[in-house]
Amino acid sequence: MKIALIGYGKMGHMIENIATKRGNEVVATVDYVSPDAKYIVKSSQEGADVIAQVKPDVVIDFTHPDEAFNNIKAFLPLGMPIVVGTTGWTSRLKEVEELVKQNDNALFYAGNFSIGVNMFYRIIENASRLMAQYDEYDSAIWEAHHNQKADSPSGTALDIAKYVMKANPKKTEIVVDAFHTQPKPNQLHVSSTRVGNVPGTHTVFFDSNADSIELTHRARNREGFALGAVRASEWLYKGISSGTLPKGRLYTMDDLLSE
Ligand SMILES: NC(=O)c1ccc[n+]([C@@H]2O[C@H](COP(=O)([O-])OP(=O)(O)OC[C@H]3O[C@@H](n4cnc5c(N)ncnc54)[C@H](O)[C@@H]3O)[C@@H](O)[C@H]2O)c1
Repeated sequence: MKIALIGYGKMGHMIENIATKRGNEVVATVDYVSPDAKYIVKSSQEGADVIAQVKPDVVIDFTHPDEAFNNIKAFLPLGMPIVVGTTGWTSRLKEVEELVKQNDNALFYAGNFSIGVNMFYRIIENASRLMAQYDEYDSAIWEAHHNQKADSPSGTALDIAKYVMKANPKKTEIVVDAFHTQPKPNQLHVSSTRVGNVPGTHTVFFDSNADSIELTHRARNREGFALGAVRASEWLYKGISSGTLPKGRLYTMDDLLSE
């Protein structure tokens, strides 16, 4: 499979490494500034021009929260399936879904491609369902990431919050800012720390007067994210090119993991 990598930063490099080891070919590395990228561009449209020129089988985007939407919009008309790992843009998910339909293309997105994290989501949903039976337990989410991360809370923390809320109907509102009044019981606090080089830590607390349960997923490095993104790309390309996966829709880790 021929891959165009848009964003040749920490994740782009790791993905190139893993994709190549699995027998894929990275035909373009595209970045705004990265000195070792094959193509330096200044806009999403210039990125699209490179893709049109190198004709990859799949495009993988790990760029910046402010850039992802414009990239997606510029790349979708080219017809190659797109895998997006960039976080912090999903408030525009409905628009993206519409663009994917209009262009009859396919887009796979995940705020977190790690298999461990995706299993953690399931563990959290089950744990939340169990704990929700007991009024004395409150819940909250905390995450930590390296100090170069551009968005907070992490996409993963927001996804975890959705699983907590799905399983616990008493939590109906996410609060990501600091509290200046006493939290209400329906509010789910999602807090963030930015420090050093942490690749990603997420904890869910279930807390009562008597005790506390803390469930934590701790990434050791970026390998799990990169491997998941390459797997998703291989799966999407194979499915779209063979016609077993329909075009015109979004795909997520739930689609990949339910096979
Ligand atoms: N989904 C996941 O599993 C997962 C895992 C880790 C990181 N991420 C997300 O991936 C994104 C990138 O993370 P990173 O650690 O590689 O960041 P990074 O800053 O190391 O690299 C991003 C690169 O993208 C380049 N860039 C920005 N806009 C661009 C554009 N329009 N075209 C081409 N290049 C562009 C930047 O110059 C930079 O070199 C972030 O949003 C991060 O939160 C997702």
